[in-house]
Amino acid sequence: MPPRKGTSNAEPRFAIAIMAAGKGTRLKSKHPKVMHEIGGKPLLQYVIDAAKSILPAHDIFVIIGHEAERVREAMAGNGVNFVLQAEQLGTGHAVMSAQQALASYDDVLVLSGDVPLLRAETIRAIRDFHLQQHAAMTILSAEFPDPTGYGRIVRKKKTGKATDEVDAIVEQKKLTSQQAKIREANSGIYAFATKPLFDNLRELRTDNPHREYYLTDVAAILARKRARVVVLKVSFAHEVAGANNRLELAQLDVEARARKAAELMSNGVTIFRPDTCVIDSEVMVGTDTVIEPFVQLLGRTRIGADCRIQSYSVITSSEIGDGVHVRHGSIITDSRVAQGAVIGPYSHLRPGSDIGQEAHVGNFVETKKAKLGRGAKANHLTYLGDAVVGERVNVGAGTITCNYDGVNKNTTVIEDGAFIGSDSTLVAPVKIGRNAYVGAAACITDDVPADALAIARSRQVNKEGWAKAKRQKAKAQLATEDTE
Ligand code: UD1
Ligand code: CA
Repeated sequence: MPPRKGTSNAEPRFAIAIMAAGKGTRLKSKHPKVMHEIGGKPLLQYVIDAAKSILPAHDIFVIIGHEAERVREAMAGNGVNFVLQAEQLGTGHAVMSAQQALASYDDVLVLSGDVPLLRAETIRAIRDFHLQQHAAMTILSAEFPDPTGYGRIVRKKKTGKATDEVDAIVEQKKLTSQQAKIREANSGIYAFATKPLFDNLRELRTDNPHREYYLTDVAAILARKRARVVVLKVSFAHEVAGANNRLELAQLDVEARARKAAELMSNGVTIFRPDTCVIDSEVMVGTDTVIEPFVQLLGRTRIGADCRIQSYSVITSSEIGDGVHVRHGSIITDSRVAQGAVIGPYSHLRPGSDIGQEAHVGNFVETKKAKLGRGAKANHLTYLGDAVVGERVNVGAGTITCNYDGVNKNTTVIEDGAFIGSDSTLVAPVKIGRNAYVGAAACITDDVPADALAIARSRQVNKEGWAKAKRQKAKAQLATEDTE
């Protein structure tokens, strides 16, 4: 970093202030704007993450106001500082509220809590440009195809040509017809030398349609006093796009997810039709895993290497080992699946499922707080709730653990190597011993010892000729009705 002119050689001390106190009226929401999510993460968390990759948390100040306690609580884990803007009187007022916290720094980077896709590289770029330029204020700008709603950058002209210096930022509602043609918009991200900032903030007035203190007016105030106000333009407008309404939120969500998919692909993950997949920002996926179209990977999901996740599967906050095959339409929530297991199609792993290595969970099988040992199989139409299933157990089609007696949840234990015949109900608490057999259609209410066979159904009775006699009787009756 070049040293600031006229100061010692020590690097200037920077702080980052993040404006996050606004209500977000245009979202028409009961939740504060900065808590709205894109890519499965709150807007403000993106900005804090970017800030933290530039400066230590103790130099970061988040300005909160609307629903301050809720925002503070949600973001407390970041270790950053919070500054209260009790009344939200505009962006200029937000920075005034932080004066005490910021005054001891040489410079401050001001970020907006509703501009989430700003990259750390760009924050570094504006910081370095600001220092090189010895500027009092540096504005980050972008050319938007449609800049409606953004403040516009009015550059200083020298012999008819636009320079890097700025005369003013003009807000949408105050644009002259000439200024309305300017496509270069203010991103709401700035670097300031702290002294000229706080010396001039008090000159802000509320003579605007919103009756607010606009931070953007500082540009004209400084420029008028011949302080250096410059602009740095980024080449990708979406990087500095704000989320002010639901449409913008949706557009930024698309962008955040595209970025996430690109990041995974660059790390060796195959994603077919990434535009159809919904992958949250915290998700991790190992190399050579293949993700088919219309997959959703949400929350803190971790997926190993060499997996295949087939279409229409939704995996939330779960841990999937290497080489796992998740077939179509499976739903996995807060669960673990170990290496080499096969899940689906259409399995539902509810919270607390723990599927062992090479185990199989198949069509229309639902599990909840169920641990399946290595190589266990439950392939068809089964419910395993509050169950501990050993290694190599075979759970036949249509088996049900009756875990709930109307008051309590009880556990079913099926020990290693046991075989549960199809259509059995296991009334918990109950234990099926090692290598035992349960005959099909059993209703098991008592423990089954190891190596035993349990039969719990009424014995079959065959009535010879019964069906034939019934048919003949019906035929005879029809014949008499016809002749009547
Ligand atoms: C602002 C800029 C506009 C710029 C745009 C870029 C002003 C006056 N205008 O407009 O030039 O093009 O950002 O996205 O600054 N906030 C507070 N306290 C307040 C008011 C707002 O902390 O009293 C916070 C908001 O929570 C938000 C940020 O400041 O995170 C920006 O406020 P917002 O109302 O969204 O400003 P824009 O109208 O988008
Ligand atoms: Ca905004």
